[in-house]
Amino acid sequence: MRDLILMNKIKRIIHSIALLLLVVFILQGCGNKAESVTASVDKDDSKEEIQIGIAFDSFLIERWERDRDIFVSRARDLGAEVNVQNANGDVQKQKDQIKYLIDKKMDVIVIVAVDSSELKKEVEEAQDAGIKVVAYDRLVMDSPVDLYISFDNEMVGKFMADAIMAELPDGGQVMKINGPSKDNNVSLVNKGFDDEIKGHGIVVFDTYYAAEWKGEEAFNYLTENPQKADKADAVMCGNDSLAGQAVRYYSEKRRAGRIPIVGQDADLDACQRIVEGTQTMTVYKSIEQLAKRAAEAAVSLAKGNNIADAAEIENGSFEVPYVSIPPVMVTKDNIDSVIIDSGFHLREDVYLKER
Ligand code: BGC
Repeated sequence: MRDLILMNKIKRIIHSIALLLLVVFILQGCGNKAESVTASVDKDDSKEEIQIGIAFDSFLIERWERDRDIFVSRARDLGAEVNVQNANGDVQKQKDQIKYLIDKKMDVIVIVAVDSSELKKEVEEAQDAGIKVVAYDRLVMDSPVDLYISFDNEMVGKFMADAIMAELPDGGQVMKINGPSKDNNVSLVNKGFDDEIKGHGIVVFDTYYAAEWKGEEAFNYLTENPQKADKADAVMCGNDSLAGQAVRYYSEKRRAGRIPIVGQDADLDACQRIVEGTQTMTVYKSIEQLAKRAAEAAVSLAKGNNIADAAEIENGSFEVPYVSIPPVMVTKDNIDSVIIDSGFHLREDVYLKER
């Protein structure tokens, strides 16, 4: 694998030297045409652009288009070409897309795993072909990925617990509506939550996993289990899309605003619910920071460098390089400074009543 990378590098160096000699030769012949010659050298170099493939789970949830746009734009600024794939939540489709990116001879493949435990073979195939692999946002288990870059997901769970405990100082019964368990972030968020509530009188009496992060699943689950829904003193939702459907359910029962409901992502409608008082908190995760750092890391890996500031995380069988970005808890109290001042959403979009 290293030999292949070395060969590619040598080829590139020979190519650059040949171009340089050509420039010197032309400059000697016609001194005043230096500018246009330099331009043509740049153009020629761009044929050697770094190729990055990025395989998304789906664009169903609001944040992912932002992830895509920022990643692609930063990678392009750094001289890379980006091939974007979307598996629409289908594991097999994602596997096929990764194989396609391997055949296309990408320098780096960035993966938002549909199923964190299902991509071991594909990662190995890519690495055998000399391609670097980055696990984006979600860890890929049991594979020696070259980098895992994400938010601190345990911290997200801790924030959710803190927000619920602040609303239920004497303890209470909590229902969890998670995303799918095949997304490794779900277990990390739950671990952070469970560790935090220990010894505070908060009891999780029911846990549900919504397939493919589908919001309607949360609504249907509550509708089909009215006794559980009634019993809950608070609902911990895996993200804002699920929280939105929980708020919808409790609005119909006239409990919205009176039952603490938490989520994550700082989706626009979640921010609107927070200022209205129907959702207790969300978690802001700077997609700008994540996507930019991931694009920079991908380009750096393509150039054969290691990621200097990476820590390490265990993914079952390996210790892999890990870059983590801190999330921020968002409530009514700090929504202006965290969400509006950062430009994540516009004030007039969040505060609909002020319009
Ligand atoms: C991410 C969340 C996102 C969810 C659904 C999770 O892995 O951590 O931010 O809402 O996937 O796309």
